[in-house]
Amino acid sequence: MTLLVTGGAGFIGANFVLDWLAAHDETVVNLDKLTYAGNPETLASLQGNAHHVFVQGDIGDAALVSRLLAEHQPRAVVNFAAESHVDRSIHGPGDFIETNIVGTFRLLESVRSYWSGLSDTHRDGGVAPTKSSFRFLHVSTDEVYGSLSKGDPAFAETHRYEPNSPYSASKAASDHLVRAWHHTYGLPVLTTNCSNNYGPYHFPEKLIPLMIVNALAGKPLPVYGDGMQIRDWLYVKDHCSAIRRVLEAGRLGETYNVGGWNEKPNIEIVNTVCKLLDELRPKQDGTSYATQIAYVTDRPGHDRRYAIDARKLEAELGWKPAETFETGIRKTVEWYLANPDWVAHVQSGSYRDWVSKNYAERQA
Ligand code: NAD
Ligand code: DAU
Repeated sequence: MTLLVTGGAGFIGANFVLDWLAAHDETVVNLDKLTYAGNPETLASLQGNAHHVFVQGDIGDAALVSRLLAEHQPRAVVNFAAESHVDRSIHGPGDFIETNIVGTFRLLESVRSYWSGLSDTHRDGGVAPTKSSFRFLHVSTDEVYGSLSKGDPAFAETHRYEPNSPYSASKAASDHLVRAWHHTYGLPVLTTNCSNNYGPYHFPEKLIPLMIVNALAGKPLPVYGDGMQIRDWLYVKDHCSAIRRVLEAGRLGETYNVGGWNEKPNIEIVNTVCKLLDELRPKQDGTSYATQIAYVTDRPGHDRRYAIDARKLEAELGWKPAETFETGIRKTVEWYLANPDWVAHVQSGSYRDWVSKNYAERQA
């Protein structure tokens, strides 16, 4: 049995592949374009593992994807591949349209063609996938629902789509395509909409890893606007366990919101990171890392609050996160302290240009 995972060299996809291969004998074909966010070093521990087949390529390359599907006959496709950073989508939305919308469309078409050629009944001793056993799981985001005000109930699956950034609009479009390929063609799809992830291998353009690496480098910790925007945080391995559960038992055509009921204002997150670093790697001059906090110009169109209502996933599929925010953030800070080489390598090249350009613009 085989899974085709896309975007499996990125933050969540790589955590998913690593966790999957630690627990299963099932082969993972990992298709990743290796954009700036894809990092083969994250998968270094899989070198020599016959169950991991890494292929560098684009989800929009129909010839390549069709060849991989025909060759490996996966029982499921798990689609993580995307452009994922909101700030970058504001600077340059083109890649987001190309990968998140056009790429997802092309991937759906390749998968539909493969799926329609599958048998209706089990052959090969029941191992080969059938039309009804095949799954296409699309990994999406809570940002498609837009922004909540204080006191609004958390996003349920029935909440209207109201995306506000080029990133969230492109993800919303991809969700609609996935939905339509189910309703129109019968493709057996599942969609997950998750809140903000954090944990190991998170690219340090995103809030939590950026604060850790900047703090350790003695750089400013840029907090957008008043720092009172609220995000709902989930440890990445809990997101991966939710995806495994939905893949296993989710109802076809359904969407499942994934979150850990951990709403926190950004400034509280930054202060927590600083406190953990003060404890685990105290500064030599005795001051707190919090002295490096710098309030900067807000993100244009910045969503004020996200919150996920995960009751459907909990009640229907019995999923629960293993980490609290307190245990997860401690593990995360410890991981960054224990992996300076990974951090140093991802900070070389285009990373440095982007981070300093973004910071300079926010100060202007
Ligand atoms: P990431 O940016 O860390 O990784 C994305 C990966 O996709 C990279 O390895 C990149 O090389 C690859 N990729 C990009 N374009 C591609 C293409 N055209 N073809 C093949 N591969 C391509 O992103 P992430 O944070 O790991 O997010 C993974 C998925 O989860 C995305 O779909 C994102 O929208 C979704 N999501 C992320 C979060 C979060 O907090 N990070 C929360 C909810 C949902
Ligand atoms: O909600 C799920 C989404 O979470 C995912 O779909 C996205 O792929 C993922 O990137 C993330 O989006 P956010 O925009 O919420 O994440 P980011 O880490 O960029 O920002 C988190 C919050 O912190 C947000 O309110 C903006 C703020 N922020 C961010 C950065 C990078 C700062 O205040 N300073 C910063 O330097």
